[in-house]
Amino acid sequence: MTVEQQFSTVRTDISGHLIQDLVMKFGTPTYVYDAQTVRDRIEQLRQFDVIRYAQKANSNIGVLDLVRKNGVVVDAVSSGEVFRAVSAGFDYDGEPDPIVYTADIFDREALDLVVEKGIHVNVGSPDMIEQYGQRVPGGEITLRINPGFGHGHSAKTNTGGESSKHGIWHEQLEDCLALAAKFDVSVTGLHMHIGSGTDFEHLSQVCDAMLQTALRVGDTIKMISAGGGLPTPYRDSDVGLDVDRYYQLWNRTRKQLEAGFGHAVSLEIEPGRFLVAESGFLLTEIRAIKKMGRNLFYLVDAGFNNLARPILYGAYHPMSIAFKGEPTHETQDVIVGGPLCESGDIFTQQEGGFVCSRELPVATVGDYLVIECAGAYGYVMSSNYNSKPFSAEVLIDGDKTHLIRKRQSPADLIRGEVIPD
Ligand code: LLP
Repeated sequence: MTVEQQFSTVRTDISGHLIQDLVMKFGTPTYVYDAQTVRDRIEQLRQFDVIRYAQKANSNIGVLDLVRKNGVVVDAVSSGEVFRAVSAGFDYDGEPDPIVYTADIFDREALDLVVEKGIHVNVGSPDMIEQYGQRVPGGEITLRINPGFGHGHSAKTNTGGESSKHGIWHEQLEDCLALAAKFDVSVTGLHMHIGSGTDFEHLSQVCDAMLQTALRVGDTIKMISAGGGLPTPYRDSDVGLDVDRYYQLWNRTRKQLEAGFGHAVSLEIEPGRFLVAESGFLLTEIRAIKKMGRNLFYLVDAGFNNLARPILYGAYHPMSIAFKGEPTHETQDVIVGGPLCESGDIFTQQEGGFVCSRELPVATVGDYLVIECAGAYGYVMSSNYNSKPFSAEVLIDGDKTHLIRKRQSPADLIRGEVIPD
C-alpha cells in the first residue's frame, strides 16, 4: 500500500462487514471497533516487558476484556476506571500490577480504594505522597516526573514543561524522596509521559532525563515506564511509528540502569491511542446536504457530542462515504457538520475553530459517512449535549459483531434527575 492510498474516501465495509448491514443492525451514530487491529498493535509492542493500556483512550469493558486476553495490563486514572478494569476481569493483585492508579490528585474515593485494595500508585504530586504515606506507611510507589519539557499534537495534549499540571517537577525530586522516606515509602518506579504524539529527537531527550532521574533516586528503582504518546497515522502523509527504534532507545536506557544498579529493571509502555485509534470507525448517516453561499455542507447525525476531537484540538480524521444507493465517481469539496445547535459542530475544522473543506465523493442524503481512526478519545469523550443519547458501540471480531454498548434510550437521558416536590 502506498502512503497516498492509506485512506480511501469510498468504503463499502469494515473488516468484511458491509457498512449497510452494520447500520441496519445497529443504527447510527455507532462506533465500530475491529478487534484484530487492536491485537495487531499489541503484537507490535511485545518487546516491552509490560504493555499497560491507558484505558482513558477507550474504556469500554469489551475493549478492556480484549486487551486483557492479549496479555495487556491497565492504567486507571480514576476510581471509575478501576471499577471498569475489575468489571472486565482484571485482578487487583498480580505481577506486574494488573491495575495501576495514575493521577495528580487522589480524590477521597480513589484514595480509599487504593488503600483498601492495595493498588499500586503512580504519584503525580507531593501531596499524593503525603496522603498515601499517611495511609500506607511502608508502601511502594512510582513517581511520575515532569522533566521540564514536553511535546504534544496540540498545546492541550502537551504534558511536560512549566505550563503542565502533570507529574512531579524534576527539581523537587529530592524533596519528594525525603517525603516518601518520612513514611518509609519506597520509590520503586519512575514514569515519564510527556505528551501525546512524540517524535524521536524528543524521545532521546526524554530517555536521557529518565536515566538521570533514576540515578538520582537510586537502586530502589525496579521499573521505568515510557508512558504513552506513541503517534498513530491520521493522514495519508503520516508514516507509522518505527516501533523497533522506539524500543531500542528505551531499552538502552533500561540497560544503563541495570548496569548501574546491578539488578533487573522492568520496562513498561503505556499506550492509549496507539492500541485503539485505528481500530475505530464512527458510522453516521448524511441527513441533509445544503449550500451556504460558496460552501456545501454534508450534515450527519453525529456531532461533537459523539466525537469531540475536531472541536477541541482541530483534530483531523480521515472520512469516507459508504453509498446506500448508486455509487458516484465524482468528488467535491464539502464541509462536514453535525446536528448540534452550535456553529462549532463541524468535523472539518482546524485548531482555533477555522472551518475547512474536505474533498469527498458526491453523496446524497441517506448515504453513510464514516469517520475513521476514531477508536481513541472518541466515545470516551462524548457527552449528552443537546440531550443527544450516547451512541452504540460494536466490536467486530472476525465474522462476528458484538454490541458492546447499547445506544442510550430517552429514559437513560433523564436517569437520576428529580423534579422537586
Ligand atoms: N499515560 C498517561 C499518564 C497519560 O496522561 C496519557 C494520555 C497516556 C498514557 C496515553 O497517551 P496516548 O498513548 O493515548 O497518546 N484527548 C486527547 C489525548 C489526551 C491524552 C491524555 N493522556 C486526544 O484526543 O488526542
